[in-house]
Amino acid sequence: MMKTKATLLIIVLALAGGQLSRAQQTGNPVIDQLLTAWSPRIFNTIPVTDDQIDLIVRCGIKAPSARNQQPWRFTVVRDEALMKSVVSNVAAGNVLILISGKESGEGRTPDFDCGLATENMFLAATALGLGARIYGGPVAIANGKREALMVPEGFRVVMILRVGNIDGSVDAVSGATPRKTTEEIVNYVK
Ligand SMILES: Cc1cc2nc3c(=O)[nH]c(=O)nc-3n(C[C@H](O)[C@H](O)[C@H](O)COP(=O)(O)O)c2cc1C
Repeated sequence: MMKTKATLLIIVLALAGGQLSRAQQTGNPVIDQLLTAWSPRIFNTIPVTDDQIDLIVRCGIKAPSARNQQPWRFTVVRDEALMKSVVSNVAAGNVLILISGKESGEGRTPDFDCGLATENMFLAATALGLGARIYGGPVAIANGKREALMVPEGFRVVMILRVGNIDGSVDAVSGATPRKTTEEIVNYVK
């Protein structure tokens, strides 16, 4: 009986280890970060600090944009009731960052630029050991209450980033969603 249990444990550990090593640990911190980032859904109420938010938004500002126009504004929302009116299951201590793009202007690509800034902030939050999740669904709700959310005049919300501390009941292996394979996605022209 003991032997069977030990064998089972070894198999489980080997499988878990295999899953980890496939996705991680190239030794390059940026590559490892990209390959292991995931989007939690369950957060606890430990507050995200001002210093963490400051670093995250600085990484957003560093994102590239067409002609370096930086056609975005970031609105950091901490008020729980206001956050809940946009993302209903948000936890106290979480932060919503509204990424808004300039509404007018010739030859601009604000949605794309805002997407890049969002991803930079998503990765920055993850690198700080926080959880982050991008939300497109509630963008219309946010745009319906721009004044209350203090989105600057002339900008509309393009994307929402939720940042918080990840609840201990979830982990990267069980929480991460799978991706299509390189065979499905990439074709090489020789
Ligand atoms: C443009 C965009 C919109 C998204 N909108 C939502 C959303 O409305 N609600 C949600 O729960 N997740 C949303 N997500 C998160 C995706 O579901 C998530 O990035 C994807 O499933 C990959 O998950 P993973 O990072 O855990 O691998 C959105 C992501 C992107 C890039």
